[in-house]
Amino acid sequence: MSTSVPPPSAPTLATVSLESLRRTGKRHARLKGRQSDELSTDQVRALLGPRPEGGHRRDLLIEYLHLLQDAYLGLHERHLVALACEMNIPMAEVHEVASFYHHFDLLREGQDAAALTVRVCDGLACELQGAQQLLDKLPAILGDGVRVIAAPCIGRCEQAPAVAVHQSAVAQASLEKVAQLCAGAQPLAPALTPAPAPAPAPAPAPAQGGQQDLDAPHPVFDPAELALQSITSGTPANPPAAVDLLAYRAHGGYELLRRIAQGRLPADDVIAALEDSGLRGLGGAGFPAGRKWRIVREQAAPRLLAVNIDEGEPGTFKDRTYLERDPHRFLEGMLIAAQVVGAEVCYIYLRDEYHDARRLLAAAIARLQADPPCLLPRIELRRGAGAYICGEESAMIESIEGKRGEPRMRPPYIAQVGLFGRPTLEHNFETLYWVRSIVERGPQWFSSFGAHGRKGLRSFSVSGRVKNPGVKLAPAGITLRELVADYCGGMAPGHELYAYLPGGASGGILPATMADIALDFDTLQPHGCFIGSAAVIVLSQHDRARDAALNMMRFFEHESCGQCTPCRVGTAKAAQLMVTPVWDEDTLRDLAQVMEDASICGLGQAAPNPLRSVLTHFAHEVGGGS
Ligand SMILES: Cc1cc2nc3c(=O)[nH]c(=O)nc-3n(C[C@H](O)[C@H](O)[C@H](O)COP(=O)(O)O)c2cc1C
Ligand code: SF4
Ligand code: FES
Repeated sequence: MSTSVPPPSAPTLATVSLESLRRTGKRHARLKGRQSDELSTDQVRALLGPRPEGGHRRDLLIEYLHLLQDAYLGLHERHLVALACEMNIPMAEVHEVASFYHHFDLLREGQDAAALTVRVCDGLACELQGAQQLLDKLPAILGDGVRVIAAPCIGRCEQAPAVAVHQSAVAQASLEKVAQLCAGAQPLAPALTPAPAPAPAPAPAPAQGGQQDLDAPHPVFDPAELALQSITSGTPANPPAAVDLLAYRAHGGYELLRRIAQGRLPADDVIAALEDSGLRGLGGAGFPAGRKWRIVREQAAPRLLAVNIDEGEPGTFKDRTYLERDPHRFLEGMLIAAQVVGAEVCYIYLRDEYHDARRLLAAAIARLQADPPCLLPRIELRRGAGAYICGEESAMIESIEGKRGEPRMRPPYIAQVGLFGRPTLEHNFETLYWVRSIVERGPQWFSSFGAHGRKGLRSFSVSGRVKNPGVKLAPAGITLRELVADYCGGMAPGHELYAYLPGGASGGILPATMADIALDFDTLQPHGCFIGSAAVIVLSQHDRARDAALNMMRFFEHESCGQCTPCRVGTAKAAQLMVTPVWDEDTLRDLAQVMEDASICGLGQAAPNPLRSVLTHFAHEVGGGS
């Protein structure tokens, strides 16, 4: 494992040491096998740019694969050979990485890439809204030139059924909408076109109050002002224009960062504010944020920071929702964290599905770097490649290092030995998003919210059979019944509450009779469930919990990284058994136990949750109980 952080760019001085010659000699010795042809080498070089003095950075392999995939709509073997030569790494290594990620299409010699790919989300919320019909009918309608494939949740569950035509998302997709977009699509080489400038901030409008739909353009998207409201309604396809740097600054943005950077607000006070607020990690595990900052800060420098915007948990779309509206509030939170723990580089890992958000974030970072409020650390924006497991913190770190996203064994924990072997503070997007409001308004502001004895705010991503899905910023501890009634306008017409998933695919399933439990960290465990990233999917009398559980198990089977047998084989075997009308309860419970006990990471450990919920609460659906 390397312990040095890769430089931003290669050194420019041409110094050739004996050691570097020896290294080059060794590398060439490893590069036996197929040699690159001239055309492919030229094409790869055109995308990668001039080779830096020290060679191309190994950790950028996935970024380079994206350049090729974007430009040629697939990864031709000849390009991979050329890339391996250009990077001085074995072809097997390139292939091993490329073949891990779902968004890379490996093309054999002579095989053509699909001119256009349509990804139909078959996650639960989209399945409820007719995704299967789209999958069945689109291939015939779109014809041979278009590849139609099923894809796991693309983070637009409030817009279900959601589809991606190449890199454009289609909300509330219909056969007509998708066909229309395909007819006008020009998918070639989006990576080669410059990112568009961010949209200007809209004219100021009076702040809204009450249970409002705030999808209208908002010049100051201040979550503190929006607390206890519906942030999105789920209906619009396009988000409002994001708050730009000028508007953000005009409302005090980056002042807090400046105060901390100048030593006017001590780092210890910032950590104390986070601890007093009770802010816990909002990526799913709920580890106290302030404590994590303290641990990382105590480690030896250099330290690093990694931001998790993989948002792959089915049903979750809160990070995208905030990012699309208010990128600078997140950036300020990230930079405050870097300042407080002394991180030298910030790596932002953004899921590949969020193309528009990536352009927006890249533009916001560039804008900030051009006019920084203080000395900034290096910021690197990294692009996921369609692998849910890369949301797991250690897998994400492997992926940022340019490898297969396979979770690491712990200990050591990444706070001690993380990215490039350095102590790493890793946070979910939303955890950092709240930092400014909490420190500015005081920890009591955040902890003053809460219901049923719980404290804080939660951004629930609500989808499924409710009238008004979307992100709901509600008190921690709210019950499902209250969330649906007070924030979602009730159930969708013709639907009555039957069941709900409180925490995405991993968090289990509860019946309507248990809709009065406080939704928060630690409150659902006694019922075999957890809140995770607060992705709530609501089912009605027209749905079956067993179908939801099967959807989830197939998802886990698809997304298992395959490292450990209980997870790889267990998810596949369970998915097979869950199709039969009457479930083999003994075998399924055995499988669930082995997966939970012997899997390396949270994916395998949590995969049995929905299945266990069905056996416990919905036995009548699978031939058991009364
Ligand atoms: C299988 C799996 C997938 C995960 N996916 C995500 C994700 O998409 N986004 C995220 O922030 N955390 C995800 N996590 C949680 C992270 O491992 C980690 O706890 C989190 O990023 C830490 O940040 P926080 O303390 O701010 O929550 C996932 C965990 C597991 C086990
Ligand atoms: S539990 Fe599953 S996803 Fe996690 S490391 Fe093992 S095989 Fe990979
Ligand atoms: S976007 Fe389809 S389930 Fe999330």
